[in-house]
Amino acid sequence: MSGKLHDKYTREAVAKLPSRKETISTGWRSPSNIAIVKYWGKSEGQIPRNPSLSFSLKEAVTEMLLTALPHSGDGFSLEYSFEGKENEAFGMRIRKYLSNILPYFPFLNGFSLDIQSHNTFPHSSGIASSASSMSALALCICSLEEMMLRRRTDEEFYTKASFMARLGSGSASRSVFGGFASWGFIEGKDDTSDEFASALEIKKDTVFSDLNDAVLIVNPGQKKVSSSQGHSLMDSHPFAVGRYKQAGKNLSEVLQALENGDVETFIRITENEALSLHGLMMSSDPGFILLEPSTIEIISRIRKYREETGSFITFTIDAGPNVHLIYPGEVREAVQIFIRDELLEFCHDGKWIDDRMGGGPEELNIKDKK
Ligand code: PMV
Repeated sequence: MSGKLHDKYTREAVAKLPSRKETISTGWRSPSNIAIVKYWGKSEGQIPRNPSLSFSLKEAVTEMLLTALPHSGDGFSLEYSFEGKENEAFGMRIRKYLSNILPYFPFLNGFSLDIQSHNTFPHSSGIASSASSMSALALCICSLEEMMLRRRTDEEFYTKASFMARLGSGSASRSVFGGFASWGFIEGKDDTSDEFASALEIKKDTVFSDLNDAVLIVNPGQKKVSSSQGHSLMDSHPFAVGRYKQAGKNLSEVLQALENGDVETFIRITENEALSLHGLMMSSDPGFILLEPSTIEIISRIRKYREETGSFITFTIDAGPNVHLIYPGEVREAVQIFIRDELLEFCHDGKWIDDRMGGGPEELNIKDKK
Protein backbone atom coordinates (compact mmCIF):
# COMPACT_ATOMS: atom_id res chain seq x y z
CA MET A 1 0.00 0.00 0.00
CA SER A 2 1.42 3.41 -0.79
CA GLY A 3 0.35 6.98 -1.43
CA LYS A 4 1.22 10.46 -0.22
CA LEU A 5 -0.85 10.29 2.94
CA HIS A 6 -0.01 6.68 3.65
CA ASP A 7 3.68 7.69 3.75
CA LYS A 8 3.01 10.79 5.88
CA TYR A 9 0.83 8.98 8.44
CA THR A 10 3.19 6.02 8.86
CA ARG A 11 6.17 8.37 9.28
CA GLU A 12 4.31 10.39 11.93
CA ALA A 13 3.23 7.21 13.72
CA VAL A 14 6.75 6.10 14.55
CA ALA A 15 7.99 9.61 15.30
CA LYS A 16 5.93 10.01 18.45
CA LEU A 17 4.49 7.59 20.99
CA PRO A 18 2.61 8.51 24.19
CA SER A 19 4.87 9.30 27.11
CA ARG A 20 2.16 8.44 29.64
CA LYS A 21 -0.80 6.11 29.38
CA GLU A 22 -4.15 6.86 30.96
CA THR A 23 -7.73 5.78 30.41
CA ILE A 24 -9.42 7.87 27.76
CA SER A 25 -12.85 7.77 26.16
CA THR A 26 -14.39 9.22 23.08
CA GLY A 27 -17.59 8.81 21.09
CA TRP A 28 -18.96 9.69 17.68
CA ARG A 29 -22.28 9.65 15.88
CA SER A 30 -21.67 9.04 12.18
CA PRO A 31 -24.08 8.67 9.26
CA SER A 32 -24.68 6.25 6.45
CA ASN A 33 -24.58 7.73 2.94
CA ILE A 34 -26.25 7.10 -0.38
CA ALA A 35 -24.14 7.10 -3.54
CA ILE A 36 -25.28 9.02 -6.61
CA VAL A 37 -22.21 8.00 -8.65
CA LYS A 38 -21.31 4.48 -7.53
CA TYR A 39 -18.01 2.99 -6.44
CA TRP A 40 -17.89 -0.55 -7.82
CA GLY A 41 -14.47 -2.08 -8.38
CA LYS A 42 -11.25 -1.46 -6.49
CA SER A 43 -7.57 -2.23 -6.56
CA GLU A 44 -5.14 -3.29 -3.82
CA GLY A 45 -5.36 -1.20 -0.64
CA GLN A 46 -8.99 -0.05 -1.07
CA ILE A 47 -8.15 2.20 -3.98
CA PRO A 48 -11.31 2.89 -6.02
CA ARG A 49 -11.30 2.19 -9.75
CA ASN A 50 -13.42 5.30 -10.30
CA PRO A 51 -14.38 8.41 -8.32
CA SER A 52 -17.77 8.38 -6.59
CA LEU A 53 -20.21 10.89 -5.12
CA SER A 54 -22.76 10.55 -2.32
CA PHE A 55 -24.65 12.50 0.26
CA SER A 56 -24.75 11.69 3.94
CA LEU A 57 -28.03 10.81 5.62
CA LYS A 58 -29.44 12.40 8.72
CA GLU A 59 -31.36 9.67 10.54
CA ALA A 60 -29.44 6.52 9.62
CA VAL A 61 -26.47 6.80 11.96
CA THR A 62 -24.18 4.69 14.15
CA GLU A 63 -23.37 5.89 17.66
CA MET A 64 -20.11 4.51 18.99
CA LEU A 65 -18.35 4.85 22.34
CA LEU A 66 -14.72 3.88 22.70
CA THR A 67 -12.78 3.60 25.95
CA ALA A 68 -9.07 2.82 25.91
CA LEU A 69 -7.64 1.42 29.16
CA PRO A 70 -3.88 1.00 29.48
CA HIS A 71 -2.58 -2.50 30.15
CA SER A 72 0.89 -3.77 30.82
CA GLY A 73 1.12 -6.47 28.11
CA ASP A 74 1.94 -6.21 24.43
CA GLY A 75 -0.58 -5.69 21.66
CA PHE A 76 -4.15 -4.51 22.09
CA SER A 77 -7.27 -6.32 23.21
CA LEU A 78 -10.86 -5.64 22.23
CA GLU A 79 -14.29 -5.94 23.85
CA TYR A 80 -17.03 -5.13 21.39
CA SER A 81 -20.76 -4.97 21.87
CA PHE A 82 -23.49 -4.01 19.44
CA GLU A 83 -26.88 -2.90 20.75
CA GLY A 84 -25.74 -3.98 24.23
CA LYS A 85 -24.83 -7.53 23.15
CA GLU A 86 -21.65 -9.22 22.03
CA ASN A 87 -21.52 -9.46 18.24
CA GLU A 88 -18.94 -11.95 17.13
CA ALA A 89 -19.09 -11.34 13.38
CA PHE A 90 -18.69 -7.58 13.56
CA GLY A 91 -16.28 -7.87 16.50
CA MET A 92 -14.01 -9.97 14.30
CA ARG A 93 -14.20 -7.44 11.49
CA ILE A 94 -13.26 -4.64 13.90
CA ARG A 95 -10.37 -6.65 15.35
CA LYS A 96 -9.02 -7.31 11.85
CA TYR A 97 -9.43 -3.65 10.94
CA LEU A 98 -7.60 -2.49 14.07
CA SER A 99 -4.74 -4.89 13.33
CA ASN A 100 -4.52 -3.51 9.79
CA ILE A 101 -4.30 0.10 10.93
CA LEU A 102 -1.63 -0.51 13.60
CA PRO A 103 1.12 0.86 11.33
CA TYR A 104 -0.74 4.21 11.52
CA PHE A 105 -1.61 3.95 15.22
CA PRO A 106 1.08 1.90 16.97
CA PHE A 107 0.05 3.59 20.23
CA LEU A 108 -2.99 1.25 20.32
CA ASN A 109 -0.64 -1.51 21.45
CA GLY A 110 -0.72 -1.44 25.20
CA PHE A 111 -4.46 -0.66 25.44
CA SER A 112 -7.60 -2.66 26.11
CA LEU A 113 -10.27 -1.18 23.89
CA ASP A 114 -13.90 -1.28 24.86
CA ILE A 115 -16.22 -0.40 21.98
CA GLN A 116 -19.98 -0.13 22.25
CA SER A 117 -22.11 0.81 19.29
CA HIS A 118 -25.67 0.95 18.15
CA ASN A 119 -27.48 2.01 15.01
CA THR A 120 -30.49 4.27 14.91
CA PHE A 121 -31.87 2.31 11.97
CA PRO A 122 -33.24 -1.21 12.32
CA HIS A 123 -30.67 -3.95 11.78
CA SER A 124 -32.59 -5.58 8.93
CA SER A 125 -33.63 -2.42 7.19
CA GLY A 126 -31.56 -2.88 4.06
CA ILE A 127 -29.50 0.20 4.94
CA ALA A 128 -25.81 -0.57 4.77
CA SER A 129 -24.34 -0.15 8.21
CA SER A 130 -20.70 -0.50 7.22
CA ALA A 131 -20.38 3.13 6.07
CA SER A 132 -21.78 4.54 9.32
CA SER A 133 -20.03 2.09 11.63
CA MET A 134 -16.60 2.14 9.99
CA SER A 135 -16.64 5.94 9.78
CA ALA A 136 -17.67 6.16 13.46
CA LEU A 137 -14.81 3.83 14.38
CA ALA A 138 -12.26 5.76 12.31
CA LEU A 139 -13.40 9.02 13.94
CA CYS A 140 -13.09 7.48 17.42
CA ILE A 141 -9.54 6.23 16.74
CA CYS A 142 -8.50 9.59 15.27
CA SER A 143 -9.94 11.31 18.34
CA LEU A 144 -7.92 9.03 20.62
CA GLU A 145 -4.81 9.95 18.68
CA GLU A 146 -5.66 13.64 19.03
CA MET A 147 -6.14 13.33 22.78
CA MET A 148 -2.99 11.34 23.25
CA LEU A 149 -0.51 12.59 20.71
CA ARG A 150 -1.11 15.39 18.32
CA ARG A 151 -3.56 18.13 17.52
CA ARG A 152 -4.60 18.65 13.95
CA THR A 153 -6.63 21.30 12.19
CA ASP A 154 -10.22 20.29 11.49
CA GLU A 155 -9.37 19.75 7.84
CA GLU A 156 -6.43 17.50 8.70
CA PHE A 157 -8.51 15.61 11.25
CA TYR A 158 -11.38 14.82 8.86
CA THR A 159 -9.00 13.95 6.04
CA LYS A 160 -7.23 11.47 8.26
CA ALA A 161 -10.55 10.07 9.52
CA SER A 162 -11.71 9.66 5.93
CA PHE A 163 -8.45 7.95 4.96
CA MET A 164 -8.85 5.55 7.90
CA ALA A 165 -12.58 4.96 7.28
CA ARG A 166 -11.72 4.04 3.68
CA LEU A 167 -9.53 1.21 4.92
CA GLY A 168 -12.54 -0.22 6.78
CA SER A 169 -15.08 0.18 3.98
CA GLY A 170 -14.55 2.28 0.85
CA SER A 171 -17.89 4.06 0.99
CA ALA A 172 -17.29 4.91 4.69
CA SER A 173 -14.65 7.44 3.57
CA ARG A 174 -17.51 9.68 2.34
CA SER A 175 -19.54 9.42 5.58
CA VAL A 176 -17.01 11.57 7.44
CA PHE A 177 -18.58 14.65 5.82
CA GLY A 178 -22.04 16.19 5.81
CA GLY A 179 -23.94 17.00 2.61
CA PHE A 180 -22.31 15.84 -0.63
CA ALA A 181 -18.88 14.22 -0.58
CA SER A 182 -16.74 12.78 -3.35
CA TRP A 183 -14.06 10.13 -3.06
CA GLY A 184 -11.43 9.34 -5.67
CA PHE A 185 -9.23 11.37 -7.96
CA ILE A 186 -11.23 13.56 -10.37
CA GLU A 187 -9.50 14.79 -13.56
CA GLY A 188 -8.75 18.49 -13.25
CA LYS A 189 -9.36 18.62 -9.49
CA ASP A 190 -6.00 18.39 -7.80
CA ASP A 191 -7.41 18.49 -4.27
CA THR A 192 -9.18 15.14 -4.80
CA SER A 193 -7.52 11.81 -4.06
CA ASP A 194 -8.05 8.06 -4.15
CA GLU A 195 -6.84 7.94 -0.56
CA PHE A 196 -9.62 9.99 1.05
CA ALA A 197 -12.93 11.72 0.39
CA SER A 198 -13.68 15.41 0.60
CA ALA A 199 -16.76 17.50 1.18
CA LEU A 200 -18.29 19.04 -1.91
CA GLU A 201 -19.49 22.56 -1.28
CA ILE A 202 -22.66 23.32 -3.20
CA LYS A 203 -24.77 26.47 -3.31
CA LYS A 204 -27.01 26.89 -0.27
CA ASP A 205 -30.80 27.01 -0.51
CA THR A 206 -31.16 25.16 -3.79
CA VAL A 207 -33.12 21.97 -4.48
CA PHE A 208 -29.86 20.05 -4.14
CA SER A 209 -29.06 21.34 -0.66
CA ASP A 210 -32.30 19.96 0.74
CA LEU A 211 -32.58 16.43 -0.65
CA ASN A 212 -34.77 13.82 1.01
CA ASP A 213 -34.22 10.07 0.75
CA ALA A 214 -37.19 7.77 1.29
CA VAL A 215 -35.71 4.31 1.65
CA LEU A 216 -38.34 1.88 0.39
CA ILE A 217 -37.62 -1.51 1.92
CA VAL A 218 -38.46 -4.18 -0.63
CA ASN A 219 -36.52 -6.85 1.23
CA PRO A 220 -34.87 -6.30 4.61
CA GLY A 221 -32.82 -9.52 4.44
CA GLN A 222 -29.06 -9.95 4.21
CA LYS A 223 -27.58 -9.32 0.77
CA LYS A 224 -27.07 -12.50 -1.28
CA VAL A 225 -23.76 -11.20 -2.60
CA SER A 226 -21.55 -8.99 -0.44
CA SER A 227 -20.12 -5.77 -1.82
CA SER A 228 -16.58 -7.15 -1.50
CA GLN A 229 -17.56 -10.06 -3.76
CA GLY A 230 -19.09 -7.56 -6.17
CA HIS A 231 -15.95 -5.41 -6.20
CA SER A 232 -13.73 -8.39 -6.95
CA LEU A 233 -15.97 -9.57 -9.79
CA MET A 234 -15.14 -6.26 -11.49
CA ASP A 235 -11.47 -7.39 -11.77
CA SER A 236 -12.38 -9.72 -14.63
CA HIS A 237 -15.52 -7.96 -15.83
CA PRO A 238 -15.74 -7.63 -19.62
CA PHE A 239 -17.23 -4.14 -19.31
CA ALA A 240 -14.85 -2.87 -16.60
CA VAL A 241 -12.93 -0.39 -18.76
CA GLY A 242 -16.13 1.06 -20.20
CA ARG A 243 -17.66 1.27 -16.73
CA TYR A 244 -14.79 3.25 -15.21
CA LYS A 245 -14.91 5.65 -18.16
CA GLN A 246 -18.69 6.02 -17.82
CA ALA A 247 -18.40 6.70 -14.06
CA GLY A 248 -15.79 9.44 -14.64
CA LYS A 249 -18.00 11.08 -17.25
CA ASN A 250 -21.12 10.77 -15.10
CA LEU A 251 -19.28 12.28 -12.18
CA SER A 252 -18.11 15.35 -14.05
CA GLU A 253 -21.58 15.86 -15.56
CA VAL A 254 -23.31 15.55 -12.21
CA LEU A 255 -20.87 18.01 -10.63
CA GLN A 256 -21.75 20.49 -13.40
CA ALA A 257 -25.45 19.80 -12.82
CA LEU A 258 -25.13 20.52 -9.09
CA GLU A 259 -23.32 23.74 -9.90
CA ASN A 260 -25.86 24.87 -12.52
CA GLY A 261 -29.03 23.72 -10.78
CA ASP A 262 -29.61 21.31 -13.68
CA VAL A 263 -32.23 18.92 -12.30
CA GLU A 264 -32.75 17.01 -15.55
CA THR A 265 -29.09 15.98 -15.80
CA PHE A 266 -29.00 15.08 -12.09
CA ILE A 267 -31.98 12.75 -12.56
CA ARG A 268 -30.61 11.22 -15.76
CA ILE A 269 -27.27 10.40 -14.18
CA THR A 270 -28.63 9.24 -10.83
CA GLU A 271 -30.84 6.66 -12.53
CA ASN A 272 -28.19 5.71 -15.09
CA GLU A 273 -25.76 4.96 -12.24
CA ALA A 274 -28.27 2.80 -10.33
CA LEU A 275 -29.23 0.79 -13.39
CA SER A 276 -25.62 0.49 -14.60
CA LEU A 277 -24.55 -0.87 -11.21
CA HIS A 278 -27.16 -3.60 -11.44
CA GLY A 279 -26.35 -4.19 -15.12
CA LEU A 280 -22.75 -4.84 -14.07
CA MET A 281 -23.91 -7.34 -11.46
CA MET A 282 -26.04 -9.18 -14.00
CA SER A 283 -23.26 -9.30 -16.59
CA SER A 284 -20.41 -10.37 -14.29
CA ASP A 285 -19.26 -13.98 -14.20
CA PRO A 286 -21.04 -15.44 -12.32
CA GLY A 287 -23.88 -13.00 -12.84
CA PHE A 288 -26.31 -12.23 -10.06
CA ILE A 289 -29.58 -10.38 -9.69
CA LEU A 290 -30.35 -8.34 -6.60
CA LEU A 291 -33.37 -6.52 -8.02
CA GLU A 292 -36.77 -7.97 -7.20
CA PRO A 293 -40.11 -7.63 -9.01
CA SER A 294 -41.23 -4.98 -6.49
CA THR A 295 -38.05 -2.97 -7.14
CA ILE A 296 -38.97 -2.76 -10.83
CA GLU A 297 -42.59 -1.89 -10.04
CA ILE A 298 -41.49 0.94 -7.75
CA ILE A 299 -39.08 2.31 -10.39
CA SER A 300 -41.85 2.28 -13.03
CA ARG A 301 -44.21 4.11 -10.72
CA ILE A 302 -41.63 6.74 -9.82
CA ARG A 303 -40.96 7.41 -13.50
CA LYS A 304 -44.69 7.55 -14.27
CA TYR A 305 -45.31 9.95 -11.38
CA ARG A 306 -42.50 12.21 -12.64
CA GLU A 307 -43.91 12.17 -16.15
CA GLU A 308 -47.41 13.06 -14.93
CA THR A 309 -46.50 15.73 -12.37
CA GLY A 310 -43.23 17.11 -13.73
CA SER A 311 -41.87 16.92 -10.16
CA PHE A 312 -38.22 16.46 -9.30
CA ILE A 313 -38.21 12.90 -8.02
CA THR A 314 -35.70 10.24 -8.90
CA PHE A 315 -34.34 6.99 -7.56
CA THR A 316 -31.14 5.20 -6.84
CA ILE A 317 -30.40 1.68 -5.67
CA ASP A 318 -27.38 0.30 -3.83
CA ALA A 319 -26.23 -3.30 -3.79
CA GLY A 320 -29.65 -4.70 -2.86
CA PRO A 321 -33.31 -4.59 -3.92
CA ASN A 322 -34.35 -1.51 -1.90
CA VAL A 323 -35.14 1.74 -3.63
CA HIS A 324 -33.93 5.14 -2.45
CA LEU A 325 -36.47 7.69 -3.64
CA ILE A 326 -34.68 11.04 -3.85
CA TYR A 327 -36.60 14.31 -3.91
CA PRO A 328 -36.21 17.89 -2.69
CA GLY A 329 -37.94 19.31 0.40
CA GLU A 330 -40.19 21.54 -1.71
CA VAL A 331 -42.26 18.54 -2.93
CA ARG A 332 -42.12 16.65 0.36
CA GLU A 333 -45.81 16.74 1.18
CA ALA A 334 -46.97 15.54 -2.24
CA VAL A 335 -44.28 12.86 -2.49
CA GLN A 336 -45.15 11.46 0.92
CA ILE A 337 -48.76 11.06 -0.21
CA PHE A 338 -47.50 9.36 -3.39
CA ILE A 339 -45.37 6.98 -1.29
CA ARG A 340 -48.28 6.05 0.97
CA ASP A 341 -50.82 5.70 -1.83
CA GLU A 342 -48.75 3.99 -4.48
CA LEU A 343 -45.47 2.59 -3.23
CA LEU A 344 -45.90 1.14 0.24
CA GLU A 345 -47.84 -1.85 -1.08
CA PHE A 346 -44.56 -3.00 -2.72
CA CYS A 347 -42.50 -2.61 0.46
CA HIS A 348 -41.88 -5.45 2.89
CA ASP A 349 -44.61 -5.09 5.56
CA GLY A 350 -45.11 -1.54 4.27
CA LYS A 351 -41.67 -0.64 5.65
CA TRP A 352 -39.81 2.51 4.65
CA ILE A 353 -37.44 4.99 6.25
CA ASP A 354 -38.03 8.71 5.99
CA ASP A 355 -34.52 10.12 5.74
CA ARG A 356 -32.83 13.18 4.31
CA MET A 357 -29.47 14.81 3.76
CA GLY A 358 -27.62 15.40 7.02
CA GLY A 359 -24.86 17.59 8.35
CA GLY A 360 -22.30 14.82 8.95
CA PRO A 361 -20.74 13.22 12.01
CA GLU A 362 -20.96 14.69 15.50
CA GLU A 363 -18.72 14.09 18.45
CA LEU A 364 -20.71 12.71 21.39
CA ASN A 365 -20.62 14.28 24.77
CA ILE A 366 -19.68 11.04 26.45
CA LYS A 367 -20.29 12.31 29.96
CA ASP A 368 -23.99 12.48 29.06
CA LYS A 369 -23.88 9.10 27.44
CA LYS A 370 -22.43 6.98 30.21
O1 PMV B 1 -17.99 0.44 0.68
P1 PMV B 1 -18.41 -0.87 0.15
O2 PMV B 1 -17.25 -1.78 -0.09
O3 PMV B 1 -19.50 -1.50 0.98
O4 PMV B 1 -19.04 -0.64 -1.32
C1 PMV B 1 -20.17 0.17 -1.53
C2 PMV B 1 -20.72 -0.04 -2.89
C3 PMV B 1 -22.02 0.69 -3.20
O5 PMV B 1 -22.76 0.92 -2.03
C4 PMV B 1 -22.84 -0.21 -4.12
C5 PMV B 1 -21.78 1.99 -3.95
C6 PMV B 1 -21.22 3.15 -3.17
O6 PMV B 1 -20.46 3.91 -3.77
O7 PMV B 1 -21.61 3.35 -2.00
